[in-house]
Amino acid sequence: MKFTASLLAASLASTADAFSVKPAGYARLGSELYARQPIMAGNWKMNPSTEADALNLANGFVALLHEMEDTCAMDEVEGCTEVVLFPPFPFISKVKDVVGKAGIAVGSQQVYYEDKGAFTGSVSASMVKSVGCEYVLCGHSERRTLFSDDDVNINAKVKKTLEFGMKPILCIGETKEEFDLGITKEVCAMQVSKDLAGVSKEDMKNVVIAYEPVWAIGTGLVCDPESANKVHQFIRTVLERMYDKEVAENIRIQYGGSVTPESVDGLMAMSDIDGCLVGGASLFADKFARIVNFKQVD
Ligand code: 13P
Repeated sequence: MKFTASLLAASLASTADAFSVKPAGYARLGSELYARQPIMAGNWKMNPSTEADALNLANGFVALLHEMEDTCAMDEVEGCTEVVLFPPFPFISKVKDVVGKAGIAVGSQQVYYEDKGAFTGSVSASMVKSVGCEYVLCGHSERRTLFSDDDVNINAKVKKTLEFGMKPILCIGETKEEFDLGITKEVCAMQVSKDLAGVSKEDMKNVVIAYEPVWAIGTGLVCDPESANKVHQFIRTVLERMYDKEVAENIRIQYGGSVTPESVDGLMAMSDIDGCLVGGASLFADKFARIVNFKQVD
């Protein structure tokens, strides 16, 4: 369902005190009472190979955003699309120096849930916070499958991220086998309820969910927008049962899985898709700049 800019602006202005979203051309109307700021995130995973390449990518991306008309990612354009980059740990500080000036946030691809100590190879929430991270990915499917993150420790990581004043992007989604069995909703409901167990309604204001069907990640198979939208709507019903309508309508839910410049506009035309979590295409400055500058289609 589409809304005109004036309707959006009027609705947003009338609810400006209720929550922090500011009027913006791309803001999405969750209901008459709630609107959601779009959020586009680039998860670089274990790429690129060197710091020099990482800074080239970051600089190239920022330069392209400056060139693009109507970009909503630049500083001082309040309320426009929020953009977050997730570089590998060693590059976070320097990438932040490059992109921070353009109003782009950085996040950590993961944290450990303990505060400090003998945990060789791990990083804590306070560490990534201290180098400027505002977001943390929790429960990414690659962490679940390759590094044995289970719902109990994902829940602990979500809570630790919130405790340190950062925002978790909780990744959920069904595998190919689960999709074939027709249990997508059951899987998502279970992950949401376990991974957010004990998270307060107040803290839910700082949580983002990314629905990433595992079979769509890195495969070139994008979930069709209508199907993804239905899952997003279902996730909101789960959150309404766990919390209430306000939480369900306010939370931002990204879609992730083979998002490209070709598929982003169709996805973002959906009522309940509030942004994308992008892997492969975020490693190309031009592709990710186009994704961030998605076009509104009727
Ligand atoms: P791709 O965009 O490469 O499919 O990766 C999606 C993803 O896993 C983002 O976290």
